[in-house]
Amino acid sequence: MAVRHLIDFKDWKSKEIEELLDIALKIKKNKEKYYDVLKNKTLTMIFQKTSTRTRLSFEAGMTQLGGHAIFLDWKTTQFIMADIQDEAKCVNRYSDVIMARLLRNADLMKIAEVSTVPVINGLCEKYHPCQVLADILTVKENKGNLKGLKLVYYGIANNVSNSLSVIATKLGMNFVLSAPERHAISLDEELLKQVNATGLYSEEKDPLKAVKDADIVYTDTWVDMELFLDPKFEEEKKRRMKTFMPYQVNKELLKGVPDALIMHDLPAHRGYEIDDFAMKSSNSIIFDQAENRLHAQKAILLKLLGKA
Ligand code: CP
Ligand code: NVA
Repeated sequence: MAVRHLIDFKDWKSKEIEELLDIALKIKKNKEKYYDVLKNKTLTMIFQKTSTRTRLSFEAGMTQLGGHAIFLDWKTTQFIMADIQDEAKCVNRYSDVIMARLLRNADLMKIAEVSTVPVINGLCEKYHPCQVLADILTVKENKGNLKGLKLVYYGIANNVSNSLSVIATKLGMNFVLSAPERHAISLDEELLKQVNATGLYSEEKDPLKAVKDADIVYTDTWVDMELFLDPKFEEEKKRRMKTFMPYQVNKELLKGVPDALIMHDLPAHRGYEIDDFAMKSSNSIIFDQAENRLHAQKAILLKLLGKA
């Protein structure tokens, strides 16, 4: 049987995603019950980009499931000079599952293509499936039922909005993209076709029109993490700050929706995509999202390793 990977939820059935959410909730309520489930299993994590939450949640997750996680910084491995598939085949020999955060999806696919163990996408330029599973888990905990909820995503159309639009529409939620621009490298025409076909996806450039009746307001950085502090990106960063400022999730925008949940995948840049008011609002579920990365990762690991 072919190995199951998690590259994005595009090729996952709604029922399978619902199952993942149920597993995550069960584990969260009863973590002691799962202490030995992945005994002697090894997760190898390969990072080309920085990380706080993804690394910690996978590493702590493996520990709490009785297994072990190995952190590899791409720069300190022979991946930098060797054939990516040769190296991946070797990683396979030591690992039961791989998680990779690579700059380019094409490289992740090269690893998945030769991998005999499940490969999990820990973020690439096109998708962030692990993040959005934790996000939806957090919404479910707060709202109970997902169907019919309206989630508005503000900022740049990117990896996070892509994955979020897929998972939300697969679970019967209305997804509204309110973005002045797309991050060109994140564009996935097939994904757009898929979410459009659900009838639950729409785009509204006017941020105030978009927010009407929103149950959830979500935002992400306007500049990818590897570029945020890059002096070569400074001019483009300045340009984006001007262009995207009307899409900031702030006190003014939230006035019309006093009950809407506020979400951000983090790291946040206060004063850019979100203001301090929104970060600190009692409607913010931002840090619960971060915690839920742990429970969601565990569900993904168990499912892909056939231990759910
Ligand atoms: N949201 C997210 O993936 O966080 P990290 O970059 O800290 O892993
Ligand atoms: N979209 C941003 C943040 C993801 C956590 C990025 O890709 O860097």
